[in-house]
Amino acid sequence: MSNTYNPYDNVLKVVNDAAAILGYTQSDIEAIKYPERELKVSVPVVMDNGETRVFEGYRIQHSTSRGPAKGGIRFHPDVNLDEVKALAAWMTFKCAVVNIPYGGGKGGVVCNPNELSERELRAITRRFTAAIAPLIGPDQDIPAPDVGSNAAVMGWIMDTYSMLKGHCVHGVVTGKPIELGGALGRNEATGRGVMFTTKNIMKKLGMEVEGTDVAVQGMGNVGSITAKLLHEEGMKVVAVSDVSGGIYKKEGLNIPEILKYLGEDRKNLLKDYKEEGMVHISNEELLELDVTVLIPAALENQINGQNADKIKAKVVVEAANGPIAAEADPILESKNIVVVPDILANAGGVVVSYFEWVQNIQSVSWTEEEVNAKLKNIMDPSFEAVWNIAQEKKTTLRTGAYLIAVERVVKAKKARAIWP
Ligand SMILES: NC(=O)c1ccc[n+]([C@@H]2O[C@H](COP(=O)([O-])OP(=O)(O)OC[C@H]3O[C@@H](n4cnc5c(N)ncnc54)[C@H](O)[C@@H]3O)[C@@H](O)[C@H]2O)c1
Repeated sequence: MSNTYNPYDNVLKVVNDAAAILGYTQSDIEAIKYPERELKVSVPVVMDNGETRVFEGYRIQHSTSRGPAKGGIRFHPDVNLDEVKALAAWMTFKCAVVNIPYGGGKGGVVCNPNELSERELRAITRRFTAAIAPLIGPDQDIPAPDVGSNAAVMGWIMDTYSMLKGHCVHGVVTGKPIELGGALGRNEATGRGVMFTTKNIMKKLGMEVEGTDVAVQGMGNVGSITAKLLHEEGMKVVAVSDVSGGIYKKEGLNIPEILKYLGEDRKNLLKDYKEEGMVHISNEELLELDVTVLIPAALENQINGQNADKIKAKVVVEAANGPIAAEADPILESKNIVVVPDILANAGGVVVSYFEWVQNIQSVSWTEEEVNAKLKNIMDPSFEAVWNIAQEKKTTLRTGAYLIAVERVVKAKKARAIWP
């Protein structure tokens, strides 16, 4: 990682680039350059050994111009204010590009869930929820899973918030267990959206899906579902990785076996996985493989000024948020590598979160088939719109996505006018 990396600078750069093409003045975009609210909290927890530890947490609402803030909760040792700010802003533009009625928010706790017992994780979740409770709610700010959190964590958030309110509040959080009003298809939604997007870009570029090689970095919720669905679509998944490193097999990996090995909780690590003909590689080597499609699905800043010139893939689909640093974009562009930006490619998760919230507040439930069909009905036209504007303005797909998103956010802000 480069030392000067600040993901919020990445956000400001693309917003400024898009605003310049849209002919907006700095005054037009001034308000969206700053998060509306930043809350920092201390989360004291009695650990299993009886000692008290205090964890640092954040909830940031970047924008509520188009609707309630929406965005995940990250549990990771590297969580910091600038990262959460950037993740919150990306949510604003993601919701705008797929045109769902939300703003953007994000939260995080500095902790390593792999080193915590279930009781400790639940205690952190409950105390953190209590600390951010004044800001969240179905009409205000609706959290969801992100790196290190999952459906179980969302269930604890829903329960904690409901206990504080004195009644059951399903719509305060999405990505919940099905038993608590979670949407069928939400768990797979981000990966499914990445699959739709990957097929869409390949079609535009005249590439065959069947047999084409793809490498996926990260085998968490997003990466594992993406690998599974692309494998089912006939692509040859030659490499995957997790925090422990990667594995590579030129003929294509046995994805169903790998998913079985990783398990539901994905506690098993790929460093200990074995398959005939495969070799272990590092995460850095995975990114630099000579493959047709590369899908970073782990963390931000994976492709940066230091390794961008070594990327050999023809297409990079950003399943993670911010996996390509701003300085790497022009390098990839100069190598004619097509990048499908995060705010479009991984929007499937927030789209189905929106479906979950709609079902919760109306007390209705849709079938998984309905959810998946509705998801496709949003992802495909959103891709088409970004592709078309990028062609028309002769820009990258990232700039194209921001042209659509920034315009929608600025128009909403203008329509409301600056209060008072
Ligand atoms: N979960 C969602 O619905 C969702 C939606 C949109 C975007 N995203 C983004 O997708 C990315 C992955 O999220 P997730 O929910 O799958 O998280 P997750 O916690 O389920 O999985 C993260 C994966 O990344 C791996 N990893 C962690 N640190 C790593 C490192 N330093 N190098 C390589 N791999 C590493 C982990 O081992 C794991 O396989 C994040 O950028 C997240 O913000 C998630």
